[in-house]
Amino acid sequence: MRNILVTGGAGFIGSNFVRLVLAQQPDCLIVNVDKLTYAGNLENLEGFLDNPTHVFVKADINDGKIIEQLIDKYKIETIINFAAESHVDRSISEPKVFIETNVTGTLTLLEAARDKKIQKFVQISTDEVYGELGETGKFTEQTPLSPNSPYSASKTSADLLVRAFGHTFGLNYNITRCSNNYGPYQFPEKMIPLMINNALNDKPLPVYGDGLNVRDWIHVEDHCQAIWKVLVEGKPSEIYNIGSSNEKTNLEVVKTILDAVGKPHSLITFVKDRPGHDRRYAIDSSKINSQLGWKAKTNFAQGIKSTIDWYLQNKKWLANVTSGNYQQYYQQMYGNR
Ligand code: NAD
Ligand code: DAU
Repeated sequence: MRNILVTGGAGFIGSNFVRLVLAQQPDCLIVNVDKLTYAGNLENLEGFLDNPTHVFVKADINDGKIIEQLIDKYKIETIINFAAESHVDRSISEPKVFIETNVTGTLTLLEAARDKKIQKFVQISTDEVYGELGETGKFTEQTPLSPNSPYSASKTSADLLVRAFGHTFGLNYNITRCSNNYGPYQFPEKMIPLMINNALNDKPLPVYGDGLNVRDWIHVEDHCQAIWKVLVEGKPSEIYNIGSSNEKTNLEVVKTILDAVGKPHSLITFVKDRPGHDRRYAIDSSKINSQLGWKAKTNFAQGIKSTIDWYLQNKKWLANVTSGNYQQYYQQMYGNR
């Protein structure tokens, strides 16, 4: 039995990870700690909330007392920290909570991990810690840290705290840095589900700037498989970049979505650019490929099709998450469009 504390397991990537582990690793116990912010959703855990090897606890990762109690009660060996404020646009309008969760929250988990002698701490980080690329090149694990948004600055700070706890206290850790994820259960503030939702509702698709910013898309299941590989086989104190070599401009992605759902390109609307908008990301995953034998399996054409199908088949999920506060958020971001 391997006992794992997962944080942020009611969010997009965390819930996909919990689902994957419960399906593939019957000898694991997952204790899933999530504050259930606007981005956390128990519907993402449908089908396994009552699973005997999955315990859901609504809590803030800043609550060190609860974290330590859970570590003792469930004999936790490993912590995987997915919990975060994760949306760049929100970090531009309200950066403070990004520091509270992504930096102070991670520090709280690190202190608990150190004091309770946790065997391994896996920090789920992002390629955004490296900043942006020009037209060529890829981020490697040696690329200097150069975060540009309050979100990426908070994630970089967390990475540096994890490293420092390894160096100072001997904490066994890995850091993973992945590129843009897509797939089921992603909150529709992120580009792909937002554009799918708008296309389905015949609403304009708000493309920032000239639409030529490039992201390197990976299917969430590939990311989750890579995290499992790092958890089990990652070497102490190592950082692993995770990506799938699927570079696309935002315009290419948006047109693919419109074509897939049979809606006209005239729905594309160019809107004011995101301040400080990183131009291009691209990940070099050769380290995890060669050292741990992991490689992404989903190509973008298949992955985006199955993702769109999932949102089409889960209109109730989409309707639920886009009711209430979502409308207010959308109005603030995009006006009446
Ligand atoms: P998400 O916003 O969908 O989910 C975040 C989850 O964390 C939510 O369930 C939320 O309720 C929870 N949470 C937030 N604050 C909390 C707190 N203080 N205490 C406990 N729980 C809290 O995010 P995601 O897209 O699933 O990202 C998960 C992780 O992966 C993040 O650390 C993010 O930085 C990283 N990441 C995301 C991507 C991506 O493309 N989405 C890519 C690379 C890395
Ligand atoms: O690279 C990894 C990162 O990817 C993660 O660390 C973040 O948590 C995750 O949110 C994501 O960040 P991005 O800013 O790249 O993702 P987002 O979906 O917000 O935007 C993707 C691209 O689409 C980006 O160039 C901005 C653009 N965009 C986004 C939205 C929401 C638009 O053109 N219009 C939009 O309405």
